[in-house]
Amino acid sequence: MINIPKGTKDVLPVDSYKWQYVEGVARETAKLFNLKEIRTPVFEHTELFQRSVGDTTDVVTKEMYTFKDKGDRSITLKPEGTAGVARSFIENSMANGVLPAKMYYIIPAFRYERPQAGRLREFHQFGVEIFGAKGAQTDAETIMLADSLLKNLGLKVKLYINSIGCPTCRAAFNKGLKEFFAPKLDNLCYDCKTRFEKNPLRLLDCKEEECKKINADAPSILDYLCEDCREHFEALKSYLTSAGIEYEINPRIVRGLDYYTRTVFEFVSTSIGAQGTVCGGGRYDGLIEELGGGSVPAVGFAAGIERLLMVMEQSGVEIPAPAVPTVYIAGMDADCRKKAFELAAALRQKGVFVEIDHMERSVKAQFKYADKLGAKYVAVIGGNELAEGKANVKQMATGESENVAFENFAEYFLGK
Ligand code: HAM
Repeated sequence: MINIPKGTKDVLPVDSYKWQYVEGVARETAKLFNLKEIRTPVFEHTELFQRSVGDTTDVVTKEMYTFKDKGDRSITLKPEGTAGVARSFIENSMANGVLPAKMYYIIPAFRYERPQAGRLREFHQFGVEIFGAKGAQTDAETIMLADSLLKNLGLKVKLYINSIGCPTCRAAFNKGLKEFFAPKLDNLCYDCKTRFEKNPLRLLDCKEEECKKINADAPSILDYLCEDCREHFEALKSYLTSAGIEYEINPRIVRGLDYYTRTVFEFVSTSIGAQGTVCGGGRYDGLIEELGGGSVPAVGFAAGIERLLMVMEQSGVEIPAPAVPTVYIAGMDADCRKKAFELAAALRQKGVFVEIDHMERSVKAQFKYADKLGAKYVAVIGGNELAEGKANVKQMATGESENVAFENFAEYFLGK
């Protein structure tokens, strides 16, 4: 027997309505903010992620599904959505079109991580990217979109914001970090020694307990922000306050991807522990240029769909149940079932949700099955009914029944 690969999950037919619900709420929320959907390939050239996500990040160094295709190209299954969308923005000259370019996506993403609750190797993201606007208002609107989505899904979350500055203030901060970490280098993990050399900001993102302890006393980026970045962060706070969005400043949030500048943020569920971050994002003003496009500011976020569903379940959010058949047409013998088949075809053409027997069950067993499906009505066709051109229709909720002529079926069930 061949099993599902580690870190992946099937969404079974009994559960898919939950996914459809979350995706539907996400699409509706995106629409209210004037975002249009973008679809990009599941795989891209590996170099795209090395240059955007960054080659000192865990995602690029440890977690990517990378392989050579038959043409000897290095291909990677996308570990996140931003890079592909940025590539498409440049490739399709969207900077010459209407700006801001506001878009969203629902994608599978792939990271070779250690699987646990809420952490998978194939997971799904609802993501948002807005290109072309540099002001803090757009950061606030992006956060507001995420906040609306989470509220629309009935979740209780906490918003953490931070600014990680621009390349200018980052250089000063990196210097400060190096001064702080230099005497402690021996106590840091192997990876952090490389991070110290290549990208000191990544030191703050280490998941090792010992490193986390040391990090607690590290300098705060907020003390190193240049005037422009400070103003941008102040403006963001003011917009959030005017929108009634509560936040907490957390100078420890640096995000696990290299492309961020200025605003970064995370929404953390207050109802689960370890994998509580349901949504993360920020501004990335340097990415388009880094990938060979012009200088185009951008901001976005992504929410993990599995995590949203997990938190919804844990906090008892009721997801509307899927639709049930309006009518189940039961037939007593082969001739009656043939009639049920014909009636079902006619009703479905009119848009009525109908089910019939496929298992040659007895009428009693069909009744039981119809009840299990939650059918609102069961129409029974026996030998007499077939001869008289009618069915006995029982309303399941009340137990009341009446005869309905076959020619009146559509009229009877439409709108029920
Ligand atoms: P990220 O923080 O790496 O950001 O991922 C966003 C969300 O995806 C996380 O908050 C989490 O809910 C979910 N997620 C990440 N990894 C896993 C996993 N292994 N299993 C389950 N869920 C996971 C990004 O991906 C950025 N592209 C977001 C962004 C868009 N920034 C700007 N624009």
